[in-house]
Amino acid sequence: MKILVTGGMGFIGSHTVVELFNAGFTPIIMDNLDNSQLSVLDGLTSILGFKPKFYEEDCNDKSALKKIFQGERDIIGVIHFAANKAVGESVAKPLKYYKNNIGSLINILEESAMANIANIVFSSSCTVYGQPDELPVSETAPIKIAESPYGNTKQICEEILRDSVNSKLPIKALSLRYFNPIGAHPSGKIGELPKGVPGNLVPFVVQSAAGWREKISIFGNDYNTPDGTCIRDYIHVVDIAKAHVNALQFLIKNESPSFYDWVNLGTGKGSSVLEVVQTFEKVSGLKLNYEIIDRRPGDVEKVFASTEKADKLLGWKTKLTLEDGLADSWRWQQSLSR
Ligand code: UD1
Repeated sequence: MKILVTGGMGFIGSHTVVELFNAGFTPIIMDNLDNSQLSVLDGLTSILGFKPKFYEEDCNDKSALKKIFQGERDIIGVIHFAANKAVGESVAKPLKYYKNNIGSLINILEESAMANIANIVFSSSCTVYGQPDELPVSETAPIKIAESPYGNTKQICEEILRDSVNSKLPIKALSLRYFNPIGAHPSGKIGELPKGVPGNLVPFVVQSAAGWREKISIFGNDYNTPDGTCIRDYIHVVDIAKAHVNALQFLIKNESPSFYDWVNLGTGKGSSVLEVVQTFEKVSGLKLNYEIIDRRPGDVEKVFASTEKADKLLGWKTKLTLEDGLADSWRWQQSLSR
């Protein structure tokens, strides 16, 4: 059973390729390498024992998408990761984000419908909840006004899926709202490849430990949390990848001709920035250099997921811990440092 994985060379995409194969699917990768590297294919080849099929194409190119669907013939589902995701860049270049992220989803929906491909899994984000009123955040929590064009593209894409299904387009779609993905494949052969100075906490922590960065800046310790630093729900990328397999299996089994729903992917447990730093020190045996600086504008104080719907609908729960995620991120970082 062939599955098209757009953005399959990226962080979550590449791990999902592995888990799809482990579950008996045949992943077909489509990626324009805009924010990923060809070396990911070597890592995947080494983990899988064969080279997965890879098309270096852009989902914004409708004819490329059509060609893949026609050439491969029996694709039964699409997992759509391909999107721009840098929050800061999206503020500076909103049109790039609206064009790429929204245009590519529209192409996927039109071409999937043409090719009779019903099952669509969409990569969304907990950013749609903003600062939630209640914790843990359940899927019934209201969508807040987006803090960035990037966040807005996720909201709009979810609306496009909902409206398409309401119009009886013959697709079955699930949006997966990720909390904070961390970690890497335990083999150390694939992981996250942030470009430039990482904005996210865990890549910054491991790069500091490796000596690539002088010290970690912790953005504020005067929040209303037990140690004053912000709380997030850090989830291992392998757990996230497995959830995509469950999501596909759920959609394939679902007999309605048109269907849309959305599910949170988190651990259900919040960890503070200081807890992440201390847990990293424990798993690596290293001492980290950090300082407390001002709050980062726009930061949410605390957010963590309710995991009930994912468990009920998809039969999925996380198995890996913060320790696992940090140990795997560190192993991956060390492989880059060599
Ligand atoms: C990320 C995005 C954010 C988006 C959200 C939900 C980035 C940089 N942040 O934020 O815009 O709305 O996902 O999709 O893309 N921290 C530090 N020092 C650092 C880095 C982070 O103290 O050098 C803290 C942050 O203040 C935060 C926590 O670590 O409290 C996690 O930060 P991050 O990894 O950026 O994730 P989000 O804040 O969830």
